Amino acid sequence: MKITVLNGSPKGDISVTMQYVNYIKNNCPGGASYKIFNISKDIKKIKNNKNHLLEIVSHIGSSDALIWAFPVYVFLVPAQVKRFIELIFENGLSNRFSGKYATAITTSVHFFDTTAHDYIAAVSEDLGMNYIDGYSAEMMELADNADSPGRLLSFAQGFINDARKKAPKTLRFDAMPDHSFNYETAISPDFKRVKSAGTPDISDDTTSPGRAPVSAEPAKLLILTDEQGTGSNISKMIETVSNAFPGVTEIVNLSESDIKSPCIGCMTCAYESICVFNDDVRKIAEDKIQAADAIVFAGGIRDRYLSSRWKTFFDRCFYRGHISLYHAKPVGFMISGALRKTPWLRQIFEGMANLEDSALAGIVTDECADSGELSAQLSHMAEKLEYAVKNGAPGKNTFYSEGGRLIFREMVYRGWPLFRMDHKFYSANGYYDFPQKRYFERLKNAFYGLLMLAPSIRKYIYRNMKTLMLKPFEKVNKKRNDKE
Ligand SMILES: Cc1cc2nc3c(=O)[nH]c(=O)nc-3n(C[C@H](O)[C@H](O)[C@H](O)COP(=O)(O)O)c2cc1C
Repeated sequence: MKITVLNGSPKGDISVTMQYVNYIKNNCPGGASYKIFNISKDIKKIKNNKNHLLEIVSHIGSSDALIWAFPVYVFLVPAQVKRFIELIFENGLSNRFSGKYATAITTSVHFFDTTAHDYIAAVSEDLGMNYIDGYSAEMMELADNADSPGRLLSFAQGFINDARKKAPKTLRFDAMPDHSFNYETAISPDFKRVKSAGTPDISDDTTSPGRAPVSAEPAKLLILTDEQGTGSNISKMIETVSNAFPGVTEIVNLSESDIKSPCIGCMTCAYESICVFNDDVRKIAEDKIQAADAIVFAGGIRDRYLSSRWKTFFDRCFYRGHISLYHAKPVGFMISGALRKTPWLRQIFEGMANLEDSALAGIVTDECADSGELSAQLSHMAEKLEYAVKNGAPGKNTFYSEGGRLIFREMVYRGWPLFRMDHKFYSANGYYDFPQKRYFERLKNAFYGLLMLAPSIRKYIYRNMKTLMLKPFEKVNKKRNDKE
């Protein structure tokens, strides 16, 4: 069995991810041979020399199976892998992948590893491959967890068996539909706001119980996009939102910005939050984003995600470590393409908003294929953004934000000598809210633990469980009733 491994770590052979591939290569019985290509480290060469791309693809064509091996970077694959996938489609090379068995091995801290796996599964299916569920390793587990080697080998053996036995194809995702709708913007020069029928004028409602208003100044909206040219749906959607937003709008185009390189994973940034590349990423993150009151992310879906330009920007913002980038600023997403066919992308957007405690004013796409309706949706989002700024609307706490924060808290705490800036930020903002530090709660639990030893008390608690669970709510409801 011939297996091609596409190594997506920008660090090439000297990467955590390759430790997992090498372990399989050296220990998995089954007589497979492996050929590894460093697609991230060599992305410049692959982009500039088509022969190199063709060599990789031809090797895949002569293999039985393919393993995507990559570190999870900002909810997905690294930007270099995204670019590699774009090159495959741009050059019409998907037929060399068709019919092969594919899987993924990732390393990460398990923060949104699921969205990365869904993405690569969908891309594999778009390439006509038979995708078998991948393996998501916590980056250090092979070294730290005695169970890990066995689990990894069992996964690899299962994949080889499936490929050998030609397991039936099971599709996870619908194909992407044709997207030919052309948005005709409904804005005339003197028409500043397109109101959706029946939409209350939310900007007049000041009864939000959210945070304190940010400022009495006109709200500043930053629209970040990668869209080039003026005729596309996205550029017209940007025009509609800019016109409908009651405050001041600034547009920053990532495609026209000086971004010298994708993130190379060197981690030099961890100690001082300074990236080895000095370019516009820092200016956008620190000048533009920090100065804005609200942010709209705008782009078209390309190969089941946004463009690799967008991914490069997101990955490079990692230089800030786990310090908030747009903390509590309301956000919106404006997407051209079939978002309903890419559910992980919606999860990523919601995750981004929830994690930053940002009010999510909307995720608007052109899928409705109706210009009037789209204008109304965009105007509604613009109004909601301003409302959220003016009323200090809070974000949502969900599994994404709670889970993410706990993962990062643990990681930063354990690695504080390296993640020095994160550590300072976490200490200063009370993010180290470990349960073992809550001494009163521990004392209370010790006392209740003793009480629970008595059968009569247990009986009482079982009998009154429902009302006892509601006791803590009495105080807050009483406070509210006293106010009214
Ligand atoms: C730019 C960047 C972004 C990252 N984003 C994520 C992420 O979204 N989720 C996660 O669990 N880990 C994330 N990580 C951690 C890496 O996935 C992890 O350290 C991985 O094991 C590195 O593998 P490598 O040495 O093979 O490159 C990120 C690391 C970097 C440098």
